Amino acid sequence: MSFIPPDEISRNLIDCIQSGLIETDQDSTIIFYDFDLLLSKTKALISAFPENTLHTIAIKANPLVKILEKIKSLGLGVEAASEGELFLAEKIGFHPSQTVFDSPAKTRNELLYAISSNINVNADSFMELERIAELKEKINSSSRIGLRINPQIGYGTIAATSVAGDYSKFGVPIKEFRTEIIESFKTYNWLSGIHIHIGSQGCSMQMLLSGFEESLKLIKEIQEQSGRNVEFIDIGGGLPTSYHHNQSPPDIIEYGAKIQELIQKYKLEHLQLITEFGRYLHANSGYTISKVEYVKHYKESNTLIIHAGADLFLRECLNPGQWYHEFTLLDLNGEIKSGSKSIKYHIAGPLCFAGDIVARDIELPKADEGDYVVIHDTGAYTFGMWSKYVSRMFPKVIMKTGKTFEIIRNREKPKDMYFFWSSY
Ligand code: LLP
Repeated sequence: MSFIPPDEISRNLIDCIQSGLIETDQDSTIIFYDFDLLLSKTKALISAFPENTLHTIAIKANPLVKILEKIKSLGLGVEAASEGELFLAEKIGFHPSQTVFDSPAKTRNELLYAISSNINVNADSFMELERIAELKEKINSSSRIGLRINPQIGYGTIAATSVAGDYSKFGVPIKEFRTEIIESFKTYNWLSGIHIHIGSQGCSMQMLLSGFEESLKLIKEIQEQSGRNVEFIDIGGGLPTSYHHNQSPPDIIEYGAKIQELIQKYKLEHLQLITEFGRYLHANSGYTISKVEYVKHYKESNTLIIHAGADLFLRECLNPGQWYHEFTLLDLNGEIKSGSKSIKYHIAGPLCFAGDIVARDIELPKADEGDYVVIHDTGAYTFGMWSKYVSRMFPKVIMKTGKTFEIIRNREKPKDMYFFWSSY
């Protein structure tokens, strides 16, 4: 199963309302997460790559602690991209050797922490390599250090998440700095890997592979010219998923096989692979259900006002037309609504700005106040990009494992929100 089907979602909502896990007068939005789908995706991920691959999962895609704990229990590592994410990784107990620290703005303090804790670090620039060199002289550390390069193979279809075009704020561009990259491997004998990330959604598997191949060519040159072996290549994340239920998501097994074919083609079998997937693992495993507060019928348009907008769906609202979700309408008891007459609705959130519209012209059965709108495939980069605008309070999150439901994050209360704006 690649997606959670609407009839299962309906049954889950009914179960949780009946058991009292959802308080219908309080929980205007509920996030659901399906552990079994995460598990099957994890198994596919592990079988797609060689056994000695280090799989780290991008925390930013889904930072919920209970889910990170599950990821740890499955033997995976994490990719952290900020001080906060490093803290999450340590607190949850990820082993430093299974933690990779990427960020384009690492401070000296963050680097000191990572290097003295033996966490792996991918430097984003030559300046950062210099900072690491200063620390490496003073501290005995087993951190493995990579250099992020930009293979400059072109942009994907979504500008905001495409990072391997001619210009990117991330990594060292290989067209301009090929010689200097090779020199760094001669200068720093602790520099042992190359890191790439092509983009997140909107970049085809073929694009990811061509970025990978460019990196292998560079690794060949580094080895020939420096006389040293590059030990690892971190391929980042970016395997796109499908948000359209009539299309299967790209196959991770095929991706892993093609990566290994390229490694053989360049005779670089000694390289250890590191991965940093986020969306692949999480996107289809989560969905969001939000109550219809009002139905507005105007002459030219119809709008459903629900309780999730740009607070949860920042990209969908701010980059309209670039992100797609499927929608299902449930009645106030959780049953799937049907009806021959379908109506086109704009699905609008609760925030105070005109762009707070999750999707436009979505065909649904006739909607009524109190119904629920299901927004499918919201397990990655939705609540991870949570916005506090208009002091919105974070919704309840329920995880399903087998037939069991568990609240893994409580609904934020007004006092929590007050604390956020007042603590000092
Ligand atoms: N590694 C690095 C260095 C990354 O920057 C990212 C994502 C990943 C791994 C994980 O990529 P994935 O497998 O999840 O595609 N909706 C967000 C997406 C930003 C992705 C950022 N980086 C946005 O609109 O900003």
